[in-house]
Amino acid sequence: MKSKPFQITSSIFTCPNSQFWNESDVQITKENFKEDYFLFFSNKKQTYLNKPLQKAGSIIRKQKKNGLYQWCDVNNSIIEIIQIQHVGQGLRITKNQQSIQFYGYVDAWFKDLKKFCIQKKINESYIINNKIGCGSYADVYKVIRKSDSKEFAAKIYDKSSDKFDSECILKEIDILRKMDHPNVIQLLETFETQKYIFIITELFAYGSLDDIITKTSFSEEEILKGMYKIIDALSNIHQKGIIHRDIKPENILFRKPNLEDILISDFGLADYYNSEGQYQYQRCGTPGNMAPEILNDQPYDYKIDSYSAGLIFYQMLNLGKSPFIVEDYEETLIKNQLGIIDFSEINVSPSVKALLQQMLEADPQKRCSINDAKFNVLFKKFNRVTIKIKRKRLHQDQTVSSYSPRSTSIYQTPSNSPPIPKNPKFKSIGLNTLHLPNRVRSQDSQLFPSPKSCNSGGNSAKTQSKQRNRNFKINVKNSIYQSISSTKVI
Ligand SMILES: Nc1ncnc2c1ncn2[C@@H]1O[C@H](COP(=O)(O)OP(=O)(O)O)[C@@H](O)[C@H]1O
Ligand SMILES: [Mg+2]
Repeated sequence: MKSKPFQITSSIFTCPNSQFWNESDVQITKENFKEDYFLFFSNKKQTYLNKPLQKAGSIIRKQKKNGLYQWCDVNNSIIEIIQIQHVGQGLRITKNQQSIQFYGYVDAWFKDLKKFCIQKKINESYIINNKIGCGSYADVYKVIRKSDSKEFAAKIYDKSSDKFDSECILKEIDILRKMDHPNVIQLLETFETQKYIFIITELFAYGSLDDIITKTSFSEEEILKGMYKIIDALSNIHQKGIIHRDIKPENILFRKPNLEDILISDFGLADYYNSEGQYQYQRCGTPGNMAPEILNDQPYDYKIDSYSAGLIFYQMLNLGKSPFIVEDYEETLIKNQLGIIDFSEINVSPSVKALLQQMLEADPQKRCSINDAKFNVLFKKFNRVTIKIKRKRLHQDQTVSSYSPRSTSIYQTPSNSPPIPKNPKFKSIGLNTLHLPNRVRSQDSQLFPSPKSCNSGGNSAKTQSKQRNRNFKINVKNSIYQSISSTKVI
């Protein structure tokens, strides 16, 4: 896959024609606002005056002389630390070429607001280290924070790549900012340079479930513990009105090397629930991991995530063997589309098997929701325990490995993608040539030292997972199903 010729791209975070300050009052009560005093330069008095400023989430507001408030949503504004002699450190927040700047003790404000804002100078804050992951749309690198040498992960989108889709990335960042569950990845800060977007998150150095699912035999108890974490996290995501749409072993990461400390990552295909069951990118997911209704062009809702979680459950109970993923890509698609699963290979207790079958019910009307699964009697004891568990922060010394065999995953371009036959039959139509993405370009290797190529650095896991990873992300814009999608809303 060729990259587009490099060109200077403007910011994807611009919000034209929006005023910095809004006059009408925001629907947030006074109690939710935190107030602090800062020094503001007064043009009238030509000096710095101490004035209050309030903040709640991404909203900042100030009170006018007449008692009314002016407010600004700083979401996607540019934030920078500034320094002036005799005055000291300050913050500048710029939106649509208008800005506010204030001085004083701004550290706490910067810490809170940087989650919602965009920074420009990543090199001042982080050292970019080695590549640790290779997704379908982005590469992930380990980065070191300069201020305290702590390690983090940076998901890096190349703006000049053919696969770069600013709308999707804006949505991914918007959704990530809403995440606050211990078993869901959280966004810490975002940087944008001329060439790249960097999404900084906690580093999960123990790889993904995909790395171990075929190699490790878990006890039923361990699997239930892990599944409960996934289900509880999904329930929280659904409560926020969000459907993940790409639940699969590669997107389940480990904070520690056990199934209890796992989390859901990669919101690259997530979207807000829509009561019509129609989405901007209707056909979305990774073949072999998807709910059949998506592949059957039906409207869908949160229950697609129950199905995909059910497929993870199935694989954990079956030594990583998927009911759909086979060597032949088209056969994988067809099996997934039909959703016929042979449960005879699964030797577990009847109650576990019953839940598995409820999650993998092909008819979404009959399928159990994530909340039904969460309150299944099997998870009763975990439901009680979660109340007591508090999130522990990752310590730097927990880091052991930095390379995930997930990077062997491959990406298929629309041009060489096979359409789904209208009347699927189980017959192999022959493998299309699959191309590895050529996303590490020469500029990248200068900016990011010692990257490991996506198709090098293999180990035994790589060989094993190579077969399994013949799965692809699809959406309407970049769809392998476009030819049969003419009646669908895009
Ligand atoms: N925070 C992280 N810590 C460690 N590895 C990560 C992290 N985020 C992603 N990865 C690795 O990078 C891979 C690709 O990242 P992902 O967000 O899934 O990108 P894509 O949307 O392109 O699939 C993941 O499968 C995982 O192996
Ligand atoms: Mg991914």
